[in-house]
Amino acid sequence: MADREPVQFKLTRPVFFIGFMGAGKSSVARRLARKSGLASVDMDTYIERREGKRISEIFQESGEEGFRRIETEVLRELAESDEPMLISCGGGIVTREENRDIISQYGFAIHLRVDADEAASRISDKSTRPLFNDIDSARARLAERMPAYESVADVTVDTAHRGIYDISMEVKSLLEREGLLCQRQK
Ligand code: S3P
Repeated sequence: MADREPVQFKLTRPVFFIGFMGAGKSSVARRLARKSGLASVDMDTYIERREGKRISEIFQESGEEGFRRIETEVLRELAESDEPMLISCGGGIVTREENRDIISQYGFAIHLRVDADEAASRISDKSTRPLFNDIDSARARLAERMPAYESVADVTVDTAHRGIYDISMEVKSLLEREGLLCQRQK
């Protein structure tokens, strides 16, 4: 008997992965996309291609405010795309009210929760994260942002001591349960 082709899915609405740097947003979105035939986009990678610069260069040249302006434009563009995608957002996306409104208006938000110490151990090259300095300021930044993550999130997934496979399986079942994933017709 011929091997059955894996089931391909599509999304009914965009799904936004939010959470602190090192939460696993990009890896989980990428894995889920590969396994389910969904489109995914990583906002930081998208911004780097669009601007032709590394995120760290954008921060150096235009400051955090300049970066946040670009981030909001890109968020809106992706949220309004005809094909709903898995969108992994930068960790600071929730700091702007406009972004929080876009996410709530257009899609479904999954907060991948991590603590600052585990996040630090997951980020091998911190020079790519201009806002992840020392562990104390990372802890303070995360504590300051936590209420915003929780207020935007439709659901929170705890990632403590878990691998990408495990987390992405949980995310897949919750998307099915919420009616966000449906099978693609051939
Ligand atoms: C940021 C997180 C980064 C990136 C930028 C700012 C933040 O994305 O957008 O360095 O403010 O937390 P990741 O969460 O993907 O690391």
